[in-house]
Parts: sequence; C-alpha cells; structure tokens
Amino acid sequence: MDLAPLPGFRDFFPDRAARREYLFARWRETARRFGFEPYDGPPLESVELYRRKSGEEIVGQLYAFTDKGGREVALRPEMTPTLARMIGTQGASQPKPIKWFSMPQLFRYERQQRGRLREHFQFNCDILGEASIEADVELVALLVETLASFGLTARDFSVKVSDRLLLVAVLEALGIADGAARAQVFAAVDKLSREPREKVREKLVASGLAARTTDDLLELLAAHDLSRLASRFETAPQVAERVLTLQRFFGLLECMGLGGFAEFDPTIVRGLDYYTGIVFEAFDREGKLRAISGGGRYDDLLENLGGTPLPALGFGMGDVVLGEMLTERNLWPAKPEGGLQIYLVLVEEALRPKMLALGHTLRRAGFRVDYSLATLAVGKQFRAAAQRHAAVAIVLGPEEWLRGAVKLKDLASREEREVSVAELEKALASLPS
Ligand code: HAM
Repeated sequence: MDLAPLPGFRDFFPDRAARREYLFARWRETARRFGFEPYDGPPLESVELYRRKSGEEIVGQLYAFTDKGGREVALRPEMTPTLARMIGTQGASQPKPIKWFSMPQLFRYERQQRGRLREHFQFNCDILGEASIEADVELVALLVETLASFGLTARDFSVKVSDRLLLVAVLEALGIADGAARAQVFAAVDKLSREPREKVREKLVASGLAARTTDDLLELLAAHDLSRLASRFETAPQVAERVLTLQRFFGLLECMGLGGFAEFDPTIVRGLDYYTGIVFEAFDREGKLRAISGGGRYDDLLENLGGTPLPALGFGMGDVVLGEMLTERNLWPAKPEGGLQIYLVLVEEALRPKMLALGHTLRRAGFRVDYSLATLAVGKQFRAAAQRHAAVAIVLGPEEWLRGAVKLKDLASREEREVSVAELEKALASLPS
C-alpha cells in the first residue's frame, strides 16, 4: 500500500502543524481585534448550494458524491455559500452588522501547481447587513492588518482593488448591456493576469465586442487610472458615481494610514459569480505567487438563495500561498509558539514520585512541562529537553532535594542556580509564554 497522502493533500506532522497553529492564532487574534466573532458550518453540503451560486469553475472542481440517502453532496470548496445559507435562516434575528470569521478546511479538485492544493485552510471574514463603503474599507483594513501581523509590509504585498459595478457601467457606456455578454467579458478580463493579452482580446471579440471597442477597453484596463476612466466616460453618470465611490474608499483607507497597501486595478474581477461591487485580491509585490487572498461584495447572494436579503461582503485567505510567502521572506517564528517550557530531569530514579508531584503542580499552575517516562541517563534527559526546545530544565538531585531545593538551568544560556521548591513558581514567572 502507498503510504503517501493523496495528491494535493497534506499530512500535518508536528512541524507543519505548529506552523498551521501559528497562522490560526494570528488569524483569530486579528479578527478578534476588529470585533469579529467565530462561526463554523458543516464540511459537507448539498451540491445544489454551489451549483446555484458559486459558478461553473468551482462546480467543476467539487469533490461530490451521492450519499447513502441518495442526496447529491459535496465537500465544501468555499465557505461563502454555507455562510449565506446560515444567515439566510437566522440573519433577521442577528444584531447588525454581523461580523463573523471562520477557518474552514476546503476541498477543490484543482490542477496542482505552486500555491494550489486540493485541500487548504481558509481564513474567512465577512460583514453582513451593512451597505456602506465603510464596511468595504473595514474589511480591507482587516485583510491588511492580518498580513501585517505576520511581519509583512507594504513592500511585500498590495491589495488590488476594483469594482464590478464600475466595470458594468463602463461596459454599458460601451454598448454592452446584455448580461450573458457581460459575464463573458468578466471571465475574459479575469484571465488577463494569467493569459496572453492577445488571447483575452480574441475572447472579448468573440463575446460580441467590436475590435476597436475591445482595444479601447483593454487600454483603459491597463492604465489602472480612476481619473482617466472618469474623463473618458464624462457623459456616463454611473461611471462617475462609481469612480467617486472608489475614490472615497481609497481616501478612507488613507485616513487609517493604510493607503500604501491598496491600489486600483480594474483587471481584478474575481472568478466567483456572486460578487456585485468592490472586489479585491492581495498579491505579493514580486508577482511570483498566486493571490494570497481575495474577496468582495456579494449583496444579492442571500436573497438569491431564498433567505433574508442582506448586503454582504467578505474575503478568504488561504494558508498555502501565505505560508509560501512567510517561507520566502524568512518570517516564520524560530521557535513554535506554545512549545515546551520546562523539562524535569531526574538524577535518581528513587525521586520519581517527587518529580511526578512537582510536575503535576507546575502543570496545574499553567506551565508546559514534560519529563522522561522511562529511566534515562541524565545526559539523555538533557538531550531530550534540547530536542523539545524546552526553555529550562529543573534537575531533581538527591542532595538538593534533601535541602528542599532543585537546580534550575536555563537551556539557552546554560546558566544554573539552586532554587528552593517553595520559591520555584516565582523563579519561573519570567519564562516566555
Ligand atoms: P477564492 O479567491 O476562491 O475566494 O479563495 C480565496 C483564497 O483562498 C485564494 O486567494 C487562495 O489564497 C486560497 N485558495 C483558493 N483555492 C485554493 C487552493 N486550491 N489551494 C490553496 N489555496 C487556495 C473564495 O473562496 C471566496 N469564498 C472568499 C470570500 C469570502 N468572498 C467573500 N467572502
């Protein structure tokens, strides 16, 4: 039997699990700082939920099967439909705005490539029940602060922001009002960063755009310039209105001191069908990796699913690309958080009952403590302490014990001193948590 995990799936041995814990801890802590509350949903959902709203691309990647009750079900490929379903049933009774976060494991049968696996963990933050642009700003600020909490700066990443309503207004001004043609244009523009411009151009022409209009559109998209769009479409009030909204969005981010993290990029449209307004993706500045995070407004999703109509917006941030970025920038903590603090070293086996009592007292007091379960030479116990990255060793020797004391050894500096058992907890108070 092949002992490797399935392609695109990972085993989480302790090193990798510790890194995942680190991501989770930062994600949770940053969401909490912004007043978001945790929620979760089932990992298995009806296929219908994704068919109705996520769009073709994701439906083609589903891990789907028929269960024993004859239901068509799928492992969740994203969290947003589950959230929309949950809010659809309970949203009316929740105080607004609803600010929730979750860290689900998601499953997509993707073609494997750098930054893309068949399972990943995704930090999801969503705001529901708030239509104002302030909510979009709040969400992008949270996204930026989450990445900053890992030591990433405006030199490392940027959030590229666009607006589907602006693109719709531009397309209307160019004479494309038909929904199907618009969807084709969105799909083609979404590929601009990954496909040659000529191929995208062909697709745009195939979706009904005149060759001249296509070139005009491609040039405007490449310019990344809001004022230029405004002056080009001076006579189209919808374009002007959305330009103003976006300018306000960037202005508010500037007020928070986050202006340097975000930029206008009209080629961002997002692959998922349900977005209705501002959309964004965070990328590494070097452009080597796929998107670290993506999201936007989806004001119609809840109503379309038959639930309470509520404006909504959110983002997802995967653990895979973020992890690669932290590796490239050497930003993983040298020592895993929550690791062992104290290793108890037994000089004489006869003292084991005393050591067990001491160890238990220290664990009760909240310290992370371990010791050898078998009789081991002192040198081997110290080696075990080092392998486990313990901060200190407490050595129980017969002579000290008779004096009611132990030796406390700092394993980094190798300094050692005698401490009375009664004073031990005080002496340990400065241990790194
Ligand atoms: P998404 O763009 O499909 O959006 O995924 C968000 C992020 O999850 C991506 O930027 C990427 O970091 C990560 N990701 C996605 N697929 C994979 C994969 N196969 N392997 C590794 N990482 C992956 C959504 O899923 C939306 N539901 C986000 C959202 C929340 N929109 C509103 N609220």
